Amino acid sequence: MIISFEGGEGVGKSTHAKILCAHLERHGLPLLSFREPGGSSFSENVRDLFFHEGLDAITELLLILASRRENITKMVLPALEQGKVVVIDRFIDSTLAYQGVVGGVGVGRVRELMEKTGTWIEPDLTFVLDVDPGRALNRIVPGDRFELREPVYHQELREAFLDLAVGARYRIIDADRPRDQVSADILSAVDRELQLPGE
Ligand code: TMP
Repeated sequence: MIISFEGGEGVGKSTHAKILCAHLERHGLPLLSFREPGGSSFSENVRDLFFHEGLDAITELLLILASRRENITKMVLPALEQGKVVVIDRFIDSTLAYQGVVGGVGVGRVRELMEKTGTWIEPDLTFVLDVDPGRALNRIVPGDRFELREPVYHQELREAFLDLAVGARYRIIDADRPRDQVSADILSAVDRELQLPGE
């Protein structure tokens, strides 16, 4: 099973991915977790390139797909074969939202390219953490070129994620609440999906 966390900047994905991993470990479930861009050592190197100033959306896309292909073939598919739960902090929906929608490449084109390059695997469960960007960006110290962009960019991104989140695998989570309430919603959705007993 693959579980992904998605959303704009500063919405708390990494925190909630970690809380979920700790929860799965308490239940004794084997797991693989990583972030994108990043993951394998190759992909962590791509992450550095990805944050290079001045890349256009197609170059970003090509870098992400190279990194994702490496993650899928070397880590995700073997982990799934071993029955692991795979928890990913950003995955295919970030590519659709960042490069496809706000980057202007087009959701259809990005998806087609992913399907043709073995970089399209749909998670079983995708949490879209939703926070008004004005409030989300107050939570972080902008550290990379994406976080430093104009408010209108972050608003478009939020709308892109909400528009994409149509289908059975998506759970839109109001993440502008105390952390415990947000994680309770996430953990109970995962418990239901994995048929784990509640704690
Ligand atoms: P983060 O790990 O701090 O969320 O930063 C990752 C950045 O990379 C974030 O700004 C979103 C961007 N990104 C894309 O533009 N496309 C992608 O496919 C992924 C996975 C991330």
